Amino acid sequence: MNSDKKIIIAIDGYSSSGKSTMARHLAKTIGYRYIDSGAMYRAVTLAAMRAGLVSRDMAPSSEAIAAILPGLSIDFEVVADGQNTMLNGENVEKDIRSLEVSSCVSPVAAIPEVRHALVDMQRLMGESKGIVMDGRDIGTVVFPAAEMKVFCDASAEKRASRRYKELTEKGAQVTYNEVLENVRSRDYIDENRDESPLRCAQDAVRLDNSEMTIDEQNEWLMNLYNRIVNG
Ligand code: DC
Repeated sequence: MNSDKKIIIAIDGYSSSGKSTMARHLAKTIGYRYIDSGAMYRAVTLAAMRAGLVSRDMAPSSEAIAAILPGLSIDFEVVADGQNTMLNGENVEKDIRSLEVSSCVSPVAAIPEVRHALVDMQRLMGESKGIVMDGRDIGTVVFPAAEMKVFCDASAEKRASRRYKELTEKGAQVTYNEVLENVRSRDYIDENRDESPLRCAQDAVRLDNSEMTIDEQNEWLMNLYNRIVNG
């Protein structure tokens, strides 16, 4: 394959498995657009929380959440140090990363109406290719014909300690055990939902990055990309 030809790169995996970090880095290096599909599910969850439709103590009703979907616009604004998730024109990048949103997002992401609406938006974003998208179902459902597919994993403990570090560095008041519990419960819901559960696509290349540094995983991904586009 010629490296001038734009492809679709799908990077799936467990929560906090480092997929966004490596996907963002690859996109920047090769000049592709990066889409964090998890941020889109988080934005819908934030909107539902603000509307009082879901909380840590209240499971979401599919009908109520489906009813707010037509009024939501979700987009990304590219800035010098990354990108901001925009919900109806408001920058919600910080709000969608809170532990509250993390605690409510998996049940919202399991609602078929939410998945259909976001998958449609994601396919539109990939229409002209030249895109790196990360998530849970990108290689299986959103872009089953993607030319490059990766499935990322790392132990739950390793993923929880990465997320704990990230959250506490931003000043969040959380304990390691709370984060580990959240990682495990999201894994369970993501793997066991009826609608497009988290699965490794048959033609994805698996990566366990438990013992890798960020530089090592970036290099691994770049090598894979080069092998795929240059043969
Ligand atoms: O990658 P993340 O932790 O930001 O994702 C947030 C949640 O969204 C996660 O619990 C599962 C869900 N998700 C999904 O179901 N499908 C995707 N393509 C991306 C995320």
